[in-house]
Amino acid sequence: MSSLFSSFTLKSTTLRNRIAIPPMCQYSAVDGVANDWHQVHYAALARGGAGLVIVEATGVSPEGRITPACLGLWNDAQAASLQRVAAGIKAGGAVPGIQIGHAGRKASANRPWEGDDHIPASDPRGWTPLAPSALAFGETLNRTPQAMSLEDIARVQADFVAAARRALAAGFEWLELHFAHGYLAQSFFSPHSNRRDDGYGGDFEGRARFLLETVAAVRAVWPEHLPLTARFGVIEFDGRDEATLQESIEAVCRMRDAGLDLLNVSMNFVIPNTAVPWATPGFMAPIAERVRREAGLPVASSWCLDDPQTAQRVIVEEQMDLVMIGRAHLANPHYPRELAHALGVDRPDWVLPAPYAHWLSRYRGPGSASAQ
Ligand SMILES: Cc1cc2nc3c(=O)[nH]c(=O)nc-3n(C[C@H](O)[C@H](O)[C@H](O)COP(=O)(O)O)c2cc1C
Repeated sequence: MSSLFSSFTLKSTTLRNRIAIPPMCQYSAVDGVANDWHQVHYAALARGGAGLVIVEATGVSPEGRITPACLGLWNDAQAASLQRVAAGIKAGGAVPGIQIGHAGRKASANRPWEGDDHIPASDPRGWTPLAPSALAFGETLNRTPQAMSLEDIARVQADFVAAARRALAAGFEWLELHFAHGYLAQSFFSPHSNRRDDGYGGDFEGRARFLLETVAAVRAVWPEHLPLTARFGVIEFDGRDEATLQESIEAVCRMRDAGLDLLNVSMNFVIPNTAVPWATPGFMAPIAERVRREAGLPVASSWCLDDPQTAQRVIVEEQMDLVMIGRAHLANPHYPRELAHALGVDRPDWVLPAPYAHWLSRYRGPGSASAQ
């Protein structure tokens, strides 16, 4: 029986446990290049013991970044900076992963702590976002995007392929395509945001086409022995959830057939003010389990799965293959050690590097009696 601290193998990649750190934007890059912040941040997360560390949403093109401070992977300087990040994660004992994406109509925003809204059109820091249709998200992201031409679509897909090649060259061993959260790919799939009347819109086939073509194109350059994954929203919480789930799972089956190895199951966030059941603990777990069962694909998920019993339960009950734990790791990169303690797992210092483990194996926290 699998448990949180059992290893997980996908293709030729083995994670030391089932704890994964999902992508979390740091909004701290200049010109898309990773710097000391990213280097220290990601190395520390890996040293803390998670099996997989996925680097934040990284733009496949300049206009695909969420904010001007997001990472990018459209040139060699960015790839070189990320090579150091990947090496730092690997040295910490985790598998280095990266999420590549295009923010679509949510691009060109201010950082969350500087407003989280669209940069005004008059401000040279911003740019005109691209999207399937010229429909704004709304609320504070109210800039109307430019509807993409067929040439734009082909170019962005080529950008995904080029970014995947650079990610591989930089040493990443796990690739996640960002198809979730209302960004470009998710907005192609959703009827809320895709009103196209050409081959990339309309019925299921048309709305799924951008995603399926992109998976196939990336799979052609991403090695067969390494995991190719996607984060995809399968539910909008907009009142038509069963219909969305059914067609999303069909899209997942098609992505599986196009070469996808695992799905990071998430929410759509294509429209504002949806009825996400935040107060229900582990609300994504049954949804992830359904995708896993109906699509026959390994899955991961996140969103408030971080307490020890929940994290352990979703693995033991085979609702998911990996548990993504985000904010708890920002609060404490050594959170896996706390999980191990709470679950009574032996050798609680096993995830610690030697310079820490030597001192902490008998240390019981601030105020404990022994100085040893
Ligand atoms: C600071 C921050 C940045 C995030 N950036 C991304 C991102 O780059 N890509 C993504 O798919 N999700 C992103 N998310 C969502 C997380 O991956 C994760 O799903 C979320 O934090 C819920 O998991 P948790 O309850 O364990 O924190 C971000 C979340 C946070 C808190």
